Amino acid sequence: MGQCPSCGQWNIFSEEVVRKDKKEGIKIFGRNESMLTRPVAVQDIKEENFVRIPVPGKELTRVLGGGLVPGSVTLFAGEPGIGKSTLMLQLALRMKNLKVLYVSGEESVEQIKMRARRIGITNEQCFLYNETNLQSIFHHISELQPGIIIIDSIQTLYSSELESAPSTISQIRECTAALVRVAKTTHIPVFIIGHITKDGSIAGPKVLEHMVDTVLQFEGDRNYFYRLLRVLKNRFGSTQEIGLYEMAEHGLKEVDNPSGILLSQWEEIPPGVCVGVTMEGQHSLLVETQALVNDTHYGNPQRVTKGYDNRKLALLLAVLEKKCGITLADKDVFVNLTGGFMMEDTSLDLAVCTSILGSYHSISVHRHICFSGEVGLTGEIRPVSRLEQRIAEAEKMGFKEMYISSYHNIDVKSKSRIELKKVQSVEKLYHAFFG
Ligand code: TYD
Ligand code: MG
Repeated sequence: MGQCPSCGQWNIFSEEVVRKDKKEGIKIFGRNESMLTRPVAVQDIKEENFVRIPVPGKELTRVLGGGLVPGSVTLFAGEPGIGKSTLMLQLALRMKNLKVLYVSGEESVEQIKMRARRIGITNEQCFLYNETNLQSIFHHISELQPGIIIIDSIQTLYSSELESAPSTISQIRECTAALVRVAKTTHIPVFIIGHITKDGSIAGPKVLEHMVDTVLQFEGDRNYFYRLLRVLKNRFGSTQEIGLYEMAEHGLKEVDNPSGILLSQWEEIPPGVCVGVTMEGQHSLLVETQALVNDTHYGNPQRVTKGYDNRKLALLLAVLEKKCGITLADKDVFVNLTGGFMMEDTSLDLAVCTSILGSYHSISVHRHICFSGEVGLTGEIRPVSRLEQRIAEAEKMGFKEMYISSYHNIDVKSKSRIELKKVQSVEKLYHAFFG
């Protein structure tokens, strides 16, 4: 086929070789030699294999749910250049009392050595190996008997049992399945690095998510220093955890006190800028939201976002037009959240709306004010989770007033030094600031 019937693009089809499995199909109620395991009563299962292996760094430990589970396979995904190899090499170098095999198909061992020198840690138990052939890697795994295996990256591996080229879906799937088998039979934990593109669309890591136990994603903008380690899936822990890192001169540093890292130090806040209080995992973060509303001069009005969902912006603009009586059909609207992470917490809605209205009217909001609330379709401002933690964080950063939903069951005259302002709807907010 020349054109893809799904996305409409031309000449994007490529051949995939599918190996025919020689094994017999499943026999029901008949004997099957591959049936080596049998049902076991739950109280008879021994848990000794699930003593977690400690990993260096408290961010990674927390994100992994308290350490590495033996035999677990962790996919570590992220855009190229974000710092995946750096974080994994740091882990390999800091791992004590365990042999680590770091397999790289991307860089030569000399290049990795240079990186290790930059990070500034030495470890005699860390073995580097430049190879892309899966069978050779397995040979060395059985020879070296490492305690942890790191594969950098799945896109460079190939199995000689398949004819298709590396980084085709069948190779990626096959190599991962083989690595999962190795992990499960030898109980060695395996980290697999996988690249994803900006839109996260590449088939590679996405098709692997169901095959592995844990999926970690490294996010951030290469132009900023901060990196967010998210858990997309964890069979052995919570997906609510995040880790925050800073890319420094000598590798990635953990960020201990993240609440204020995304705020700029304004002397006087310009119109279109305000601060929202969000939750990322268990952390409360203060995020600067910026909006620019300008007349459209050419063609269709633009709606461009960075770090914020585009469709959510369209929804908020519709609510603002309807409830505040402003016209945005002939305006370009740009929204930007600082830090370069994608923020999905709906509690930023109120800050985004205030920034848009501020830019529209060229009126700025005082820098001691912050916001935390979700905006619904009727313009109502809805409560957010863990309000006490957000208040504490905002207070710590020196904010004096915080706008929240009037549906919160909290005493406004509570002990906190921050003044809580309850608002019911975007109309009320609009009249309070810009009316
Ligand atoms: P890298 O780990 O190679 O990214 P990935 O494996 O995800 O493609 O990180 C590359 C970037 O990190 C590169 O632009 C240089 C930067 N970097 C530092 O700033 N400090 C350091 O100590 C190291 C090792 C890298
Ligand atoms: Mg790399």
